[in-house]
Amino acid sequence: MNCGADENLLDIENLTKVFSLRQGFSTTKLVAVDKASFFLKATKPEIVALAGESGSGKTTVARMILGLAEPTSGIIRYKGKDLTQLTHRERRSWFLKEVQPIFQNPFTTFSPLKRIETYLFETAFNYHVVEKENVNQYVDDVLGLVGLSLVEILGRYPNELSGGQVQRVSVARALITNPSLLVADEPVSMVDASLRMSIVNLFRKLRDEKAVSVLYITHDLATAYYAADRVAIMLGGWIVESGSVEKVLGHPLHPYTRSLKQSIPDPDPDRKWEGRVNLAILETDEFVNMGCKYASRCSEAMEICKQKIPADFLVEERTVKCFLYEDNNQA
Ligand SMILES: Nc1ncnc2c1ncn2[C@@H]1O[C@H](COP(=O)(O)OP(=O)(O)OP(=O)(O)O)[C@@H](O)[C@H]1O
Ligand SMILES: [Mg+2]
Repeated sequence: MNCGADENLLDIENLTKVFSLRQGFSTTKLVAVDKASFFLKATKPEIVALAGESGSGKTTVARMILGLAEPTSGIIRYKGKDLTQLTHRERRSWFLKEVQPIFQNPFTTFSPLKRIETYLFETAFNYHVVEKENVNQYVDDVLGLVGLSLVEILGRYPNELSGGQVQRVSVARALITNPSLLVADEPVSMVDASLRMSIVNLFRKLRDEKAVSVLYITHDLATAYYAADRVAIMLGGWIVESGSVEKVLGHPLHPYTRSLKQSIPDPDPDRKWEGRVNLAILETDEFVNMGCKYASRCSEAMEICKQKIPADFLVEERTVKCFLYEDNNQA
């Protein structure tokens, strides 16, 4: 999924995060994100799903994009700019407006003691997005995008709204700065099934009508299939397969993606991947030497899979990190 930085809205290249964990007197290292590369196009707004089981590194990727965690190595470029090179001023007056987060639990995004509209007005004032006299109209317009209005939420506290409404307000808060990219980490996992599709549909509407791109992080293959244009599948910090949703989820090639697809026969938003990656806490060197991270679970594992790390091979219009495709070109 690599292409020139100029063409992309977001470029992630060999992104790596190693956590040092204290265990008694010794320190061990955990590789949470391991040379992950993917991109979001600039030419056309798109929804890219970052999907994978629990512990595969999705949130850590999101936190690094948002500047909440520092990469150990690798590059994150937004509109061609290396994020580590941004000045404080560029980060505040440009990047933080352009790239907005949406988190999993809308009820932890908002304090129960604060009226919910306060967040929308504060964001509008802090980022100077509108003149004071026009702010009510502006906030009402943004709420309109998520199917709400100012009168509906005015003076109400988060617990006086439904889960779906609160998550809509959190999307509205993210839209106040008129961003180009939403980084949405499990935005539907805390809302019930009927509301889940309405949030996912909202992302599609924002993509189509407001030219907002979305990095949609999820466990949920079904909503990824439904909503995303492209998908990157994570396993143990790697991106093991990436490409268009039709290719990767329609006809998966990596044995791990295939097993995921088999575990969800129908696009049913109620189903979640229950699997957990038991990332052993290993020294970095040990980790690097141990071959494919899926080998111990893979029914098609060959001898080489336990000895060497597979490259990303270009197969049928997607990248696959698997020795089964070694005869194909490297990405
Ligand atoms: N601050 C931290 N310190 C140490 N280890 C961490 C830290 N944050 C995450 N990890 C570890 O990094 C790995 C990846 O975690 P991450 O939260 O990115 O996974 P995830 O794919 O978002 O999982 P989930 O689907 O459960 O949200 C896990 O093994 C996790 O325990
Ligand atoms: Mg997570």
